[in-house]
Amino acid sequence: MFNKKILIGICGGIAAYKTLTLIRLFRKAGCEVKVVITHNALSFVTPLTIETLSNNKLYVDMFEHSMERTTEHISLAQWADMAVVAPATANIIGKLALGIADDALSTTLLAFSKPIYIAPAMNENMYKHIAVQNNLNKLRQYHYHIIEPQTGMLACNMEGTGRMAEPSAIFEAVSGSVSGTNETINKKRALVTAGPTYEPVDPVRFIGNRSTGLMGFSIAEALAEKGFEVDLITGPTTLMSSEKNIHRMDVNTAEEMLQMCLQHFQKADIIVMAAAVADYTPEEKTELKMKKKETSFSLRLKPTVDILKTIAAQKKNNQTIVGFALETNDEIENAKQKLHTKKLDFIVLNSLNDKGAGFETLTNKVTIIDKKENIITFPLKSKQEIAVNIIQTVLDGIKS
Ligand code: CTP
Repeated sequence: MFNKKILIGICGGIAAYKTLTLIRLFRKAGCEVKVVITHNALSFVTPLTIETLSNNKLYVDMFEHSMERTTEHISLAQWADMAVVAPATANIIGKLALGIADDALSTTLLAFSKPIYIAPAMNENMYKHIAVQNNLNKLRQYHYHIIEPQTGMLACNMEGTGRMAEPSAIFEAVSGSVSGTNETINKKRALVTAGPTYEPVDPVRFIGNRSTGLMGFSIAEALAEKGFEVDLITGPTTLMSSEKNIHRMDVNTAEEMLQMCLQHFQKADIIVMAAAVADYTPEEKTELKMKKKETSFSLRLKPTVDILKTIAAQKKNNQTIVGFALETNDEIENAKQKLHTKKLDFIVLNSLNDKGAGFETLTNKVTIIDKKENIITFPLKSKQEIAVNIIQTVLDGIKS
């Protein structure tokens, strides 16, 4: 860490007192440290302590008097090699997710183009609130590094998750990724798609399908349990995932799913496309709600891009790609044809003729075919169990 320039952001939470130790850890490791603090955080720690420990002036207000200060957020952002926000409150997480810059810290971070580490700290109900979780997922998507909070006694005298990671753990996460020893940086990555896509007809109507997303979410969880960092790109679903190694990205249409997959597939070692992507989308979406007509009418549809085929055509030799096939007739033959024409490593076949398999069920019955046309059929099981079987088959296939 010697010689690194670290920008530390302190927000208003009781864990701010622990950040004093973090400043010391960085300084002892030979780093130069500058601190930006929010007004609320000043109630928890004093400027004198921070300036003494960091050996630099503390940055609080964006618009102090000199001309130099008005662009200080830009020069601070240029100066530092990395930024660490500890404690990160629900407020700063929300502001960064939305791109709001209304004080020195949020403005500096928005102007920052180097790695940013976020160490959340808050009450458990706040931390688990869907809005905060969605914002954290957005930050993961924007490539912020989230240093997960711990479970234990919180400042509100409740046991729960939301306690800021210990200063030593934050220091290790940051220094580990600088030296390349950080576990999450060296971990294998996977990309999973899940759920349906919704193709808009007008502002209130869409063409969709009955996929719930459960199969894709179960696959993402099975991969995370095997130690993968998983990017999960999902169409509209009510499902939530509690695995911390799953970085969820929400999309609506086939086109949005394609763009998100193109952005993320290159870093994946394994790609599993379980989404039920619409094959057609309306040629035009009307801006206003379509009025009821007395007569029948036609809606013109155009084909969507086959995401699986597009990604498979660009994949590198060290990447493994798994597709799904949903068939009603000549199942094995159709699945083999998809496997070869889409250039996949594995295809997972669901037949709608199998009772308890396919959409809107908690169970599934699948057959997996690899590119040498080896076939394994699994009996009807829960989608979670099937997901574990699929991932194990793929991992065994990669090894052999
Ligand atoms: N798929 C995709 N993009 C599309 C359509 C499908 O990536 N626009 C993917 C699905 O995620 C799945 C696989 O292709 O992994 C097969 O989907 P399926 O609906 O069974 O096959 P299609 O290729 O759409 O062919 P058909 O509907 O004619 O059976």
